[in-house]
Amino acid sequence: MGFLIAVDGPAASGKGTIAAKLARLYGYPALDSGLLYRAVGVRLLAEGGDLSDVAAATAVARTLDPAELEKPEVRTRAAGEAASRVAIHTPVRECLRDFQRAFAAQEPGAVIDGRDIATVIAPWAPAKLFVTASPEVRAERRWRQLTAQGEAVEYADILADIRIRDERDSGRSDSPMVRADDAVLLDTSEMTIDGAFDAARRIVEAARANW
Ligand code: DC
Repeated sequence: MGFLIAVDGPAASGKGTIAAKLARLYGYPALDSGLLYRAVGVRLLAEGGDLSDVAAATAVARTLDPAELEKPEVRTRAAGEAASRVAIHTPVRECLRDFQRAFAAQEPGAVIDGRDIATVIAPWAPAKLFVTASPEVRAERRWRQLTAQGEAVEYADILADIRIRDERDSGRSDSPMVRADDAVLLDTSEMTIDGAFDAARRIVEAARANW
């Protein structure tokens, strides 16, 4: 097993940015596990399926092609919502689990961000961070990101989305979003990107020293 850095946390907490920067720093491959669920939701909707249809969602998850993770459609607001809804289905999660576990175990190391990396996918990860921020700060960050992508969205709607998504992701019975007991909590509400990355880097360095 390599030096896996698991970065969990809610939507728009800054975990993706931190994970990508850590991967660059150490020269490790990075996986944004949210894209897997987003790609399942996007294809299911494109095929005219229903997000609550477990069998249909599972069929999509089983035949997911890595190229689907690269499509711009997976980054939209609708894709995030669809992802959260297909992510409650246990068979969907099972289909995506082996791929994530294989990615996690590669040498000399890897970075994965998501909701259940430190708790379910790879509890053995030597470095675990739980990145969070207040719903208001996260809504503002997501609003800026979607607006920059050219999507016309209202801040109030994004804040409502975030609250619903937090509730769904942390309330589901299979692999809910929760901080692992041994994950270090990093609240980025008052931090700049550079400040948050610096704090994350220090946490990872401490874990590396004990590895
Ligand atoms: O990180 P994100 O916003 O792209 O994730 C989209 C949704 O996918 C999230 O609301 C819940 C689901 N997800 C999950 O259940 N487990 C993960 N490891 C990553 C994402």
